[in-house]
Amino acid sequence: MINPVSRAAIALRERRRAPDMAQIMSAVPVPVVLLDVDNRFRFVNHAAEQFLGISASGLSQLRLRDLIPEDNPLFLLVDQVRRSGATVSDHDMSVDSPRLNKRGMTVQGASLPEEPGSVVLVLQDASAARALDRQLAFRGAARSVTGMAAVLAHEVKNPLSGIRGAAQLLETSVDTQDRELAVLIRDEADRIRALVDRMEIFGEKPITRTAVNIHRVLEHVRKLAQSGFAPHVHFQEVYDPSLPPVWGNRDQLIQVFLNLVKNAAEAVSTTEQSNPEITLMTAFQHGMRLAVPGTKTRLDVPLLVTIRDNGPGIAEDIRPHLFEPFVSTKASGSGLGLALVAKIVGDHGGLIEVNSRPGRTDFRLHLPVLNEEEADQGA
Ligand SMILES: Nc1ncnc2c1ncn2[C@@H]1O[C@H](COP(=O)(O)OP(=O)(O)OP(=O)(O)O)[C@@H](O)[C@H]1O
Ligand SMILES: [Mg+2]
Repeated sequence: MINPVSRAAIALRERRRAPDMAQIMSAVPVPVVLLDVDNRFRFVNHAAEQFLGISASGLSQLRLRDLIPEDNPLFLLVDQVRRSGATVSDHDMSVDSPRLNKRGMTVQGASLPEEPGSVVLVLQDASAARALDRQLAFRGAARSVTGMAAVLAHEVKNPLSGIRGAAQLLETSVDTQDRELAVLIRDEADRIRALVDRMEIFGEKPITRTAVNIHRVLEHVRKLAQSGFAPHVHFQEVYDPSLPPVWGNRDQLIQVFLNLVKNAAEAVSTTEQSNPEITLMTAFQHGMRLAVPGTKTRLDVPLLVTIRDNGPGIAEDIRPHLFEPFVSTKASGSGLGLALVAKIVGDHGGLIEVNSRPGRTDFRLHLPVLNEEEADQGA
């Protein structure tokens, strides 16, 4: 007979015996596959069987290229993981194959040091990657302004300069009381012109890129802020000085950070916040990769810039529309700032994420760095 003490000891030992790794993986609700050095499926979990629509035994007979055409960027990702040993993720990879149909997915790849040549892939349907979906929608939102910007530039600017000129003429010929009205017309015409100018950036023009020192850009923006709209705000800078240059357009990047810092400054300038603070941070993040909109090119976006403020956070009701044009909670806001930011970041092939709660709002930008090959080609 087993006494209660040894029964408890046996139960404990049973509990301690770890379940088989395959069992654990099968319970994981995210599709996971293990490829061997020849891209044969060595292991798939249940979620991957469902995701790919093929049973584990069926998959064990197949190679990756039987499911996905070999020119798909997924193969580059797998190679990159093998070569670098690093974890690589790609956020809007689209797969179009007879067996899988057309679908978008997020793929993360990692190497297994114990099994040279093997690569673990974690797959996720694009619809599940909601944050990124929203980002793509934001790009769309910014694009919807594109056409309008062109119309405005043509149809508004010309009559506007006529109105302005006429008001200016009137200024010289009317009495003092009416002159005020003429000045008002001129000033308001200038304001509309400034708005139209600001919208022109939404036009579809290819950007010219150079190697841009991100810290100089941030310094410039901080100085502008401190000598202009945010003299009372305490700025903190947490920079990684070893960062490579951004592959981008300096003026547009200044515009991006100026808008973000201005929003942050406006957010911390409330009566409740007695220690208004904005933090600018830069860091290097391995393995972030994105498609450049409208092209087949894929860019690594390892440069992470965060603009943090200790304001009240973003109002709940506007969050889903944050990057759409004309969304504003401010009495005199045009609501174009973040739409512009989304457009420029999108054009750079980058990504912007937002994390906000009362007391801490983070705008995180993932940007591409200078790639030696592109620099050599003078692209
Ligand atoms: N750091 C932030 N903290 C809290 N709310 C923010 C922050 N940044 C943006 N918002 C919210 O997002 C809205 C949209 O910002 P956006 O920059 O597009 O327009 P705006 O600042 O209102 O006007 P504009 O930039 O054209 O002067 C803001 O009105 C504000 O409600
Ligand atoms: Mg703004």
